[in-house]
Amino acid sequence: MKDETRLVHAGRDPFNHHGVVSVPVYHASTILSPDLDDFEKRDRRVIYGRNGTPTTFAFEDIVKALEQAEDVIVCGSGLGAISTAILALCKAGDHVLATDNVYSPVRNVLDKVLPRYGITTGYFDPTDLATLEDGITPQTRLIWLESPGSQTFEVTDLPAVVDMARKRDILTAIDNTWAGGYFLKPLTMGIDVSVQAATKYIGGHSDIMLGTISCNQRTAEAVRSMFNYLGNPAGPDDVFLATRGARTLAVRMERHQQSALKIAEWLVEQPCIRSVLHPALPLFPGHDIWKRDFTGASGLFGFIMDCPNRDALAAMVNGMEHLGLGYSWGGFESLLIPTNPHQHRTLMTDPPDGQTMRINVGLEDPDDLIADLAAGFERLKA
Ligand SMILES: Cc1ncc(COP(=O)(O)O)c(C=O)c1O
Repeated sequence: MKDETRLVHAGRDPFNHHGVVSVPVYHASTILSPDLDDFEKRDRRVIYGRNGTPTTFAFEDIVKALEQAEDVIVCGSGLGAISTAILALCKAGDHVLATDNVYSPVRNVLDKVLPRYGITTGYFDPTDLATLEDGITPQTRLIWLESPGSQTFEVTDLPAVVDMARKRDILTAIDNTWAGGYFLKPLTMGIDVSVQAATKYIGGHSDIMLGTISCNQRTAEAVRSMFNYLGNPAGPDDVFLATRGARTLAVRMERHQQSALKIAEWLVEQPCIRSVLHPALPLFPGHDIWKRDFTGASGLFGFIMDCPNRDALAAMVNGMEHLGLGYSWGGFESLLIPTNPHQHRTLMTDPPDGQTMRINVGLEDPDDLIADLAAGFERLKA
């Protein structure tokens, strides 16, 4: 079965819901038992609101089908999913090795929270796996990946990392948000955990906060238990909206891909552009690895442009008609923000010449976005 079909049919149960096509929103804390036998056994899937309701389980089943996972756990944000997964897989005395281009708030978890509980972290350069090999210690329990990496989009040789990790019995986990679980299948490559900020592409409409943790057999029980111990479930309305978003994920991802590539190719030709950070461009350094491991590219990428000063940057971004100035991405609407990726890194610290930008290409007509960018570059020059 193809993803398009899985995304439409997984998690549906109409004839247990009066024929209703989508599993409704269950708002629940208390789940009543009909009698004492049932109350004492607690052997049903739905036992208490915090552990999930049919609304949650329907969404879990869609992501399970999408990521080909043994189990999927749903958390209240992408960052919540990341911290739950790391806490589930590591204990005091363990060491985590994380990619240096990781989504920067994850560094707070790794550098500020985990040391309090005796877990230490080192970083590796995703473009130089010798730094990964050198960083491994006898205590390394988990390698944390993100590919393409945040803001600069370097692509990691994931099969090589899995190979190194498996030989040493180290677990691997990846932030799979950029690919939406659609263009990359980490669990089929031997990665143990694939986390997504469902806030982004799965939600798709910039109106929810949600995270998913897709696990293989090695990790499913540990992650489900930690989720239950910590007790931070997602709200039912956000889960319902994510379920609705997931139904159209495939068509949206294809459109994001087409429009983003058209804009990236246009950007390459513009005189004020120093480089375009898009893995599907043949000249991008990680392109060959991306082509081997991914089935497509989403709508988020970067570029580095000449920028005389902050006033020029302000003139450019303040005057945009369609491209909004705001965090997050993966929604139907386009965004453009300046970034400073090298401020958040410990190994890849060389700032590039020029201003780095991140663009989220939404579902508008790409020619309208190109016109918006072209006018912005005129303001930048002026
Ligand atoms: C790559 C990546 N992972 C995780 C997250 C965190 O997701 P959330 O905002 O849902 O906590 C983000 C948010 O921007 C992100 O860009």
